[in-house]
Amino acid sequence: MRESFRRHAFGYAISIAAMLVVAGMTAASAWIMKDITNEFAVGKDINRVYQIATMVAGIFIVKGLATFLQSLYLSRVGNAIIAERQRKIYDRILAQGISFYHSIPSADLITRVTHNAQAARAVLDLIVTAYVRDLFTLIGLVAVMVIQQPMLSLVAFIVGPIAIYGVNLILRRVRKIMEAEFLSLAQIVQVMQETTIGVRIVKSFNLESLMRSRMHRAVSDVERRANTIAALEAGTSPIMETLAGLAIAGVVLVSGFLVVQGGQTPGSIMAFITALLLAYEPAKRLARMRVSLESGLVGVRMMFELADRPLTLAERPGAVPLTEGPGLIKLKDVNFSYKDGEPVLCDLDLTFPPGKMTALVGPSGSGKSTVMNLIMRMYDPDSGEVLFDGQDISHATLHSLRNRIAYVSQDTFLFAGSIMHNIRLGREGATDEEVIAAAKAANAHDFISALPRGYETDVGENGAFLSGGQKQRLSIARAILRNADVLLLDEATSALDAESEALFRDALETLSEGRTTIAIAHRLSTVHQADNIVVMDKGKVAEQGRHSDLLEHGGLYRKLYEYQLMR
Ligand SMILES: Nc1ncnc2c1ncn2[C@@H]1O[C@H](COP(=O)(O)OP(=O)(O)O)[C@@H](O)[C@H]1O
Ligand SMILES: [Mg+2]
Repeated sequence: MRESFRRHAFGYAISIAAMLVVAGMTAASAWIMKDITNEFAVGKDINRVYQIATMVAGIFIVKGLATFLQSLYLSRVGNAIIAERQRKIYDRILAQGISFYHSIPSADLITRVTHNAQAARAVLDLIVTAYVRDLFTLIGLVAVMVIQQPMLSLVAFIVGPIAIYGVNLILRRVRKIMEAEFLSLAQIVQVMQETTIGVRIVKSFNLESLMRSRMHRAVSDVERRANTIAALEAGTSPIMETLAGLAIAGVVLVSGFLVVQGGQTPGSIMAFITALLLAYEPAKRLARMRVSLESGLVGVRMMFELADRPLTLAERPGAVPLTEGPGLIKLKDVNFSYKDGEPVLCDLDLTFPPGKMTALVGPSGSGKSTVMNLIMRMYDPDSGEVLFDGQDISHATLHSLRNRIAYVSQDTFLFAGSIMHNIRLGREGATDEEVIAAAKAANAHDFISALPRGYETDVGENGAFLSGGQKQRLSIARAILRNADVLLLDEATSALDAESEALFRDALETLSEGRTTIAIAHRLSTVHQADNIVVMDKGKVAEQGRHSDLLEHGGLYRKLYEYQLMR
């Protein structure tokens, strides 16, 4: 509240001022009932009638205008708050390290970014309307009641608090249900996501009925909880209504005595009864305020929980850009595990000489991709250092580090948009000619040119309109365009056919010239010309050397090589 109120002080000030006017006008409309009744029943002066009619008109015109201003400014501030929150949460999520993304299901994140900012707005709206408009309206009306009929007011004030207590009893259950409700919503998003992303698997494995029952279960959960909440909310209304009716009956009884037997003028009693009836709505809203507030606060809490989560990987204060150098990469005594107690890299010492090509081979799960993750500082090692030209990368700015690296990931990813757009993401501001040159180097130009719309072809969601090999060639082109001095290729050719792979091998020779290249490959043919081949096994270096030496050595490399020859 403090943050939002300070930033939107002007909008809130106008809105609150308008609410005070609305409250005042509501009280005035009750007050004027006294004059209306007395003039009509007792005074019978036609000029006073004109006067009073004009005043009534004035009251409602002013009230209408104030209501307009109040809701306009409140909505504007509300929309600004949603926008602000969504930007802030997204920026925060974007700054998080990879392990954060693995710790929260993506459906959860999506639901939070879209829904929880709305909750923040709803809560602020509620607080402002309830505590300013409703509260001040109530105060104005109560003032009218007390001034006009102090005795009768007492009757009303005894019943009121009893009603409010009854409502509060119901509130306690609401919070828990709302949280569960949110989780079921995220479930729906998750099932939907898996259905779209994995549609081919869903269909080919006949998983429709499984997915259907998961979706139906999530939907039913949401429905059931929504019904419970509705029942709780619905319950508060009749309780209030009944109690209010009893209070009004009591008031009618006492006031009847006062007028019929006490000889009072009816005007003041009319003003009182009008004020009492008008007070009913704001009093009810104030009493129900906590139900609505609780449900909104669930969303707000979840939002702040996300926003306040510490960054899993951050730049050090005072981080400096990496200084330019030949591109020597070193891992020194590196130990690393994704999860406590499950070491993935053990005391690893590795040197990647500048301008040379090093191949990383070894059984799957031996830690090859992990080495690349550490070089890009997607994770920090548990102990040991990763050095770039002698500089510990954990002291460098993330941007300067990643700016020096071109990376082709094991699983290709394409963004929505055209082929041109996807390759150009490799380097901001690259010209069309540069993009095409990169595509040629990646052996992608021919297939792109054969497409009816060429480079302007839309790739579909994550490249759905392209084959696996085509996607891979686009991500290679993207990395080539980057023109960085360090090239990381994680099974960059796994989806290529033998011919494309051979072509790529030739391209790689020119491409890797003068760059520190690290290539992970399953197919040993891709890397046998590498300057150094590092064979990894269970997070350690099993052996390293040139192709011929390793074959002669007769270790793990030879075994891997022979398996591949037999296929
Ligand atoms: N995000 C992760 N969380 C937990 N464990 C992981 C994660 N990524 C990889 N691993 C584990 O780390 C080990 C090494 O994985 P990786 O470096 O990807 O092997 P590869 O040599 O096949 O590239 C494997 O046992 C794998 O199960
Ligand atoms: Mg891997």
